[in-house]
Amino acid sequence: MALTTEPTRGTRDLEAFRDRIDDLVATHRIVTDNRYTRWFATGVASRGEVRHLAVQFSVFSHLFVEAQLRKVINAADLDTYRAGKEILLNELGVVFNAGGRSPAAAGDTDPELVATEGTVDGGRFRFGAAHFEWLLRFAKPLGLDFADLGKRRHGTPATVFFCDELVEVYGSEDASTAEGASYAVEHWAAAGFWKELIAGLEAFKARECEGLPLAFWTWHDKVEDQHAAHTADELDEAYAQPWFDEDRFLAGASRMLDGVAAFWDGLWADHEAGVVR
Ligand SMILES: [Fe+2]
Repeated sequence: MALTTEPTRGTRDLEAFRDRIDDLVATHRIVTDNRYTRWFATGVASRGEVRHLAVQFSVFSHLFVEAQLRKVINAADLDTYRAGKEILLNELGVVFNAGGRSPAAAGDTDPELVATEGTVDGGRFRFGAAHFEWLLRFAKPLGLDFADLGKRRHGTPATVFFCDELVEVYGSEDASTAEGASYAVEHWAAAGFWKELIAGLEAFKARECEGLPLAFWTWHDKVEDQHAAHTADELDEAYAQPWFDEDRFLAGASRMLDGVAAFWDGLWADHEAGVVR
């Protein structure tokens, strides 16, 4: 009896598959038509609406840590496990070790100053460098304190749905699903929503909130391009693995973008309903 082996997927298959996934991301409604961030970028959000965004974003940002830990635990191989830890530990406050720079020079906790490139390996942990603490500093001039931010109970049903989808899909036990979610999230995030939020926040700051520190947002905007490049490399590697399944990858990507859409749709619905003024 002849042994049959799975045909190895070739580079051409990968290119065709990459076109399919890029098409899925590029044509998803949340990428082509995010009503909330498009409106927010015009700079007309009231103080109450900026506070509402701060709280909902803090819930997503904080609960994202759970999803990231789950992604690390479920990683299919050592490279993915370590790539996941780069994001997880940086999120928690390990400042990237940016090669040539001394830890003292790179060691400040201000997102205005800390590196957006490098590795957590050999990096230094600083409480104040946790992304959640950056958000606390951002939210302070808005009159929001630790007790007002980042807990599940502070999330609207739409925000909590998104966070649960992140844990389920981005942190999935199925590696193809998780890779698809990861690819979609990073490519969506690199597509410009940070810039739209920054534009709106700069207008709000100039109008009525001098001293509002925006570095949480600008740091993330800077780092996003790298994340997208990392997930592209990850796809190259994952695609060659015997466990890789195109359909589950695409389903993971699609479901994750629907989760992202639910978050922004929730904020838009709250704006339209005038629940926040
Ligand atoms: Fe972050």
